[in-house]
Amino acid sequence: MQLDLSGKTALVTGSTSGIGLAIAHGLAKAGATVVVNGRSADRVADAVSGLRDAHPSVSVMGIDADVTTQPGVDRLLAEIPAVDVLVNNLGIFGAVPALEITDDEWRRYFDTNVLAAARLIRSYLPGMIEAGWGRVIDIASDSAVVIPAEMIHYGVSKTALLAVSRGFAKAAAGTGVTVNSVIAGPTHTGGVEDFVYELVDTSLPWEEAQREFMRLHRPQSLLQRLIEPEEIANMVVYLASPLASATTGGALRVDGGYVDSILP
Ligand SMILES: NC(=O)c1ccc[n+]([C@@H]2O[C@H](COP(=O)([O-])OP(=O)(O)OC[C@H]3O[C@@H](n4cnc5c(N)ncnc54)[C@H](OP(=O)(O)O)[C@@H]3O)[C@@H](O)[C@H]2O)c1
Repeated sequence: MQLDLSGKTALVTGSTSGIGLAIAHGLAKAGATVVVNGRSADRVADAVSGLRDAHPSVSVMGIDADVTTQPGVDRLLAEIPAVDVLVNNLGIFGAVPALEITDDEWRRYFDTNVLAAARLIRSYLPGMIEAGWGRVIDIASDSAVVIPAEMIHYGVSKTALLAVSRGFAKAAAGTGVTVNSVIAGPTHTGGVEDFVYELVDTSLPWEEAQREFMRLHRPQSLLQRLIEPEEIANMVVYLASPLASATTGGALRVDGGYVDSILP
């Protein structure tokens, strides 16, 4: 399959590390002009320089802006008024016992994981519709479907994100713009590596540690290892490509079979 995104501009929120950075690399490899985003100017600059080194023939830009705030979005829109591909990757997660989640925490999760994505779709979708082509991809989680007891606010926010994708796909019906979400499963990012070593013997080498973690704490995964960020990125690049023209309003799973269901 030739995934050709040359001539397209793609914005990936929260892309200085983890899954977002892998998505930025995947889109650049397919020829897209990539816009990297994060809150820290230094981390954005590092990501931009890594992307330029790896993909010297494509254009890479970086915007340090907190996209959970209206001023951050205003700054982003002033620099990047239109995109062809919007990847709402930014998302926060963390364990809190259900009865201890405060109103402020519920609001913070809603603002970061749901409203930031909806606001950016609202900002960029009209331009895509006018152009007759566009792609919106929201990064959800297995937690949207299997609500984790240790972070129900995270799960609820990702369930809402699935609804955001489905709803905006309807708003873009018949326009050439597709809107989808990707249900990512447990993925090997820096934060998750620390989390694994909190739960298994720290003297184990990484391969054994993650196998032990999956066996003890994620036995329902059919993959029985963590997903690599590039494996999530592959699905995103496909969805962003012209080849995925008939897929919209969907929730596509890259969860290693973690969700025990035929459909999401
Ligand atoms: N890791 C997993 O196992 C897993 C599983 C399922 C789904 N997911 C989802 O995948 C997405 C990415 O997760 P990840 O684990 O790769 O995340 P991560 O490693 O924690 O990366 C977060 C990124 O977001 C940026 N960021 C944080 N707050 C921001 C803000 N307010 N505005 C702009 N950028 C911000 C961070 O950069 P700065 O610190 O520089 O701002 C960083 O680049 C999330 O939506 C997550 O829910 C992850």
